[in-house]
Amino acid sequence: EKFNSNDLPLLGKKVVVTAGPTRERIDPVRYISNFSTGKMGYSMAEAAAALGAETVLISGPVGLGKPVGVKVIDVESAEEMFEAVLSEYDDATIVVKSAAVADYRPKDIHPQKIKKGEGESIIELTRTKDILKTLGERKAHQILVGFAAETENAVGHGMGKLDSKNLDFIIVNDVTDPDAGFGKETNVVTLLSKNGLNQLYPVMPKKELATVLLKAILQERTDIDD
Ligand code: CTP
Ligand code: CA
Repeated sequence: EKFNSNDLPLLGKKVVVTAGPTRERIDPVRYISNFSTGKMGYSMAEAAAALGAETVLISGPVGLGKPVGVKVIDVESAEEMFEAVLSEYDDATIVVKSAAVADYRPKDIHPQKIKKGEGESIIELTRTKDILKTLGERKAHQILVGFAAETENAVGHGMGKLDSKNLDFIIVNDVTDPDAGFGKETNVVTLLSKNGLNQLYPVMPKKELATVLLKAILQERTDIDD
C-alpha cells in the first residue's frame, strides 16, 4: 500500500543522513578534524523528516540542536561512523552522506597525553575506511547520495566520485565561493546524477536548498515506490 501524497512523498521510507566532521584521536586531548559544522547535513535530515521520512541522522561532533522528529546517533571517528551507517543501511531507501569524513587517522592513539619533550614530531597516519565507497559496493535497492566539497573543478571531481563510489547522485560545491561551504548559512551546489543530470542551483539558504535537493532526487527517481 502506498501513502504517497504530494506533501509527504517520503512517508513510510527510511532516510539515513550523515553530517558534520569526524575526529580522529591523536591522544586523550588532541585530534585531527576539519571545518565542517554539520549545517548542510542537519538541514538534509530536517528536510527528509518534513517530507515524511523516518529519518536517522548519524552525526559527528557539531554544536547544533537535534532536529525535530529525527533519530540522532552521535559518533566521533570515521570508524564509529562506518559502524553506525552500516547498521542502518539494509532497510534505508535513501542514504545521504553529507559528513566530512577524515581521510586519515593516526595509526596509533597515544594512551597518554604526548609531552612536548618526547620528540614526537611525526604522527604516523593511516587511511580511514571510505564509508560511501563501501555502501556503493554493497548497494541493493538504496539510493546513494554523496556530497563533495571542492576547491577547484568541482563538477569534474564530482563526476569522478559519482562513478568510482557507485552513487546515484552527488551534490558538489566549490567551497571557495563566498556564498558556499563550511559554516555558511547558504550554499551554491550542483546536483549530478548517474543518469546525466547536471543542475546548478542559485545561492539558497541551506535549509531551503535541502528540500529542493530531496525533491529533485525524488523527481528523477520515480522508481522510489517500487
Ligand atoms: N566519504 C566517506 N568516507 C570517507 C571519505 C569520504 O563516506 N572515508 C564520503 C563523504 O561523506 C562524501 C563523499 O565520500 O559524501 C565524498 O567525499 P570527499 O572527501 O569529497 O571524497 P574522497 O573520496 O575522500 O576524495 P578526496 O578527499 O581525495 O577529494
Ligand atoms: Ca576526503
